[in-house]
Amino acid sequence: MTLEGNVVHEGKTKILYKEKPGELIMEFKDSITAMNGRLKETIPGKGEVCSKITEIIFSHLEKNGVNTHFISRVSEKKLRVKELEMYPIEVVCRNIAFGSLLKRLPLRSGEELKRPVIEFYYKSDELGDPMLNEDHLAILGVSESEIKEIRGTTLKTNELLKELFRNAGLKLVDFKLEFGKYKSNILIGDEFSPDNFRAWLENRPVDKDLFRMGEGRDTVIKAYLEVLKRLEKVVN
Ligand code: TMP
Repeated sequence: MTLEGNVVHEGKTKILYKEKPGELIMEFKDSITAMNGRLKETIPGKGEVCSKITEIIFSHLEKNGVNTHFISRVSEKKLRVKELEMYPIEVVCRNIAFGSLLKRLPLRSGEELKRPVIEFYYKSDELGDPMLNEDHLAILGVSESEIKEIRGTTLKTNELLKELFRNAGLKLVDFKLEFGKYKSNILIGDEFSPDNFRAWLENRPVDKDLFRMGEGRDTVIKAYLEVLKRLEKVVN
């Protein structure tokens, strides 16, 4: 059977194929979406760039003791990953007041937070990804010890990546992680790319905010490539 025959999930920006037990192939598409899929565009080369940034970040995390689902590269747009049993949540970590945090707290846009802020959201297009507290998480079946571990891994990831981005001349504003279980261990899954982190270069975005703001595909891919180039330089 061809790989394409084994699609287990197709999302807005990625396709997952089943190759063998316990493993998946994650293909990054060239699409970019915002506003829950209402804004949509194809940007040639974007899938390859996001897969490379994800590989760099996940390899860096692994090297520093943070477990992710990344196994190896398969081709330009495809990574081999461990098949996780995903938690239905998104975990956001923030260093700078921006985005939806400005609707919750009386902070100045761009202000440094005095400590990282972690937020949990329920992954549901239907409900509009609502924010969750720890009681909501318990109802969803995420235990206190799992929450504690997920928070710890998120904070460690933040410390490692803040430094990596700083070395690359970038400011890591915020990011989103997803987690899943593999043989009773909790690992980081999904991707880590400018689609799901905010980074600033001299206080200007080099991430999906450019697309959200209505910039064209040339500007967006140029920014994503700049992030890749800078990260490649600091990890090699
Ligand atoms: P927010 O400020 O819009 O809540 O976003 C915080 C960070 O989380 C930002 O880096 C973008 C990322 N994010 C996602 O990757 N997926 C999402 O569905 C949302 C809401 C945010």
